Amino acid sequence: MYRNIFLLSLLGLAACSSPEQSNQTLSLQSPDEKITVQVFTTQNGGPAYTVRHGETLVLDTSRLGMRWTDGSDFGKGFAITGSETRSFNETWEQPWGEQRQMTDHSEELLVNYTKTDDPEMTYAIRFRAYDDGIAFRYEFDHNIKNVTVIDEDTEFQLTADHRCWWAPGDWDIYEHLYNTSRFSEIDATTKRNHVSLAQTYIPENAVNTPLTMRTEEGLYLCIHEAALTDFTDMTLKVDAANLRLQAELVGRPDGMKADMSGAWNTPWRVVLISDQATKLVESTTILNLNEPSKIDDMSWFEPTKYAGIWWDMHLDRRGWDMEGGKHGATTAYAKEVIDFAAANNIGGMLVEGWNTGWASWFGDGRPEQGPFDFITPYPDYDLAEVVRYGREKGVELIMHHETSAMPLVYEKYLDTAFALMKHYGIHVVKTGYVGTIIPKGEYHHGQFMVKHYHKVIQTAARYQIAVNAHEPIKDTGVRRTWPNEISREGLRGQEFNAWCPDGGNPPEHASIVAFTRMLGGPIDYTPGIFNIKLKPYKPNNQVNTTLAHQLALYVVFYSPIQMAPDFIENYVGHPGLAFIQDVAVDWEQTRVLAGEPGDFVAIARQERNAARPEPSATSQERNGRKGSATPNNNPANRWFLGVVTDENARTLDLPLDFLQAGKRYTLRLYLDAPDAHWNDNPTAFQTEERVVSSTETLQLSLAPGGGVAASFQVLEE
Ligand code: NOJ
Ligand code: CA
Repeated sequence: MYRNIFLLSLLGLAACSSPEQSNQTLSLQSPDEKITVQVFTTQNGGPAYTVRHGETLVLDTSRLGMRWTDGSDFGKGFAITGSETRSFNETWEQPWGEQRQMTDHSEELLVNYTKTDDPEMTYAIRFRAYDDGIAFRYEFDHNIKNVTVIDEDTEFQLTADHRCWWAPGDWDIYEHLYNTSRFSEIDATTKRNHVSLAQTYIPENAVNTPLTMRTEEGLYLCIHEAALTDFTDMTLKVDAANLRLQAELVGRPDGMKADMSGAWNTPWRVVLISDQATKLVESTTILNLNEPSKIDDMSWFEPTKYAGIWWDMHLDRRGWDMEGGKHGATTAYAKEVIDFAAANNIGGMLVEGWNTGWASWFGDGRPEQGPFDFITPYPDYDLAEVVRYGREKGVELIMHHETSAMPLVYEKYLDTAFALMKHYGIHVVKTGYVGTIIPKGEYHHGQFMVKHYHKVIQTAARYQIAVNAHEPIKDTGVRRTWPNEISREGLRGQEFNAWCPDGGNPPEHASIVAFTRMLGGPIDYTPGIFNIKLKPYKPNNQVNTTLAHQLALYVVFYSPIQMAPDFIENYVGHPGLAFIQDVAVDWEQTRVLAGEPGDFVAIARQERNAARPEPSATSQERNGRKGSATPNNNPANRWFLGVVTDENARTLDLPLDFLQAGKRYTLRLYLDAPDAHWNDNPTAFQTEERVVSSTETLQLSLAPGGGVAASFQVLEE
């Protein structure tokens, strides 16, 4: 539905909210009318907006604008000269995801601006209002050929000194811990030069998005962006004195931010708003703001669990390179891992260090032509044989392309590398970009790299390849448009527990990440470490959670590929392995049952009713069934639950009303033992099994740093 609304008919429609604003105010409301955006110009003709949630002013007068090198300044001297509104109420389906059915229910207001002393100079800002947030983007369609963006001046004017969960605005890496503080206490510059980061650049006191906040009144806000495909990453500069955030785009060697041409728009700037923290996690707004899929057939990608030759290297038991004498990626070891995967309902296997070049992959040792050609295996690794053996056992290889942060070298080899994968029928690649970017002066999050990552995704799609990027650009929901963008790192993952000298990821890590980084999209965290103390390999490092917490992460952290990274011998014979065998990786729906950032979170997900690999022999035996198509094995009849807490012990009552009424379910619980503790007794663990129904309430006790994982299998009666 399209309606043209002329500005005159809107004059005086809404009351002015600030003395600064002129008398032209347009209003946009969310479908449920709870959230209101007001759009107006300030006295100097600067576009601006406010946001309300009910009666509460969430963002006070916040200026909008952008500057280009040709002298254009879109932040002053403009008048609103027209507008259009549109309503959306559409459904669409994800090929894979945390929920299958999606609804885009929103209202849109397109505001046209014209320069008061130059009628040729026009642009627009498109606003959207959803029941759980607002978004806007700048649109330029006057076909000025080439423009160079100096910076964007978008503001987010807070109304109080909120509690914030923030990570520093690093232009080169997202692998920082989240910090919790009042807004006025944020100082990102204290996070500079972290010892474990191969590249880091924090130019000023700014934060990265998603930035999550809580007001005194209990309103939760999250600022992020959607559909970042050809621009540059937006960090947010902190003006502590004025309680204001201002866009600070990631720059490039000449100090500018982006080159754009023709008709173009910025990514969406998004503010999620809810009076429940859990609703932020359930939000589909970021995905709805992205364009529909450009890939017609995604049937070649199936969400999967994967094992691998990976944790070995992070614990220094084996090496990436062959030259060092303890090469991990050998044909024999790969076959062992394949056997383990096949026996445990794990459909994929990642092998790192398979290709020549690892002796000089890092830092200043990187050769100019790049260490890797992405196609030549080390002599002790028979790629063809590993692929063949895996296929025989029902395990598909996941390819690994470490680029050493040399994107132009990677682009040179891209087609050959993907053609090799296609030849072997390999559909997933894990990419990596460790180190400072070459060409020098570019940053991982700048426009140059945003375009590179996007080019890789688009090229991969042509070869039916799905990408799991490490050291990536942040997730802004682009997987809706390019569903072969399946997962990514872009946070402090499990690997930091193996080698970071700062103590590793604290017990509260997951309960913050779920409400911050995860609002962007899937996370390749690599949960499931059972040898929590990493003995005997890393006496000075450990995982800072209980074992049950590790299992819960398979449900808490969403990803369509989930690794079982620990050594085979740490899994085999452990009662917790049954959960890794069973847990699904593709979901019909997700319910965030309870949670508070930094404290705890409880998430239930219903398995999606899609074809699954045959259950493994061991899991069939354990479940007392043979064959695949017994009614009890109907995937849609299974729910999984993950609960994690921070360093505090916690009891929780969780109503099971997400289960289908009138049905009984076998509940299998994977729990902290009563004396478990993330540091003192992390592997104290127990399992329980009983029959439950939707009318019951589950009473759970979590140890300090602990968690609960659970599966619910419907009983056919
Ligand atoms: C960093 C990645 O995060 C990690 O998973 C990988 O093993 C190494 N780079 C080597 O590529
Ligand atoms: Ca990494």
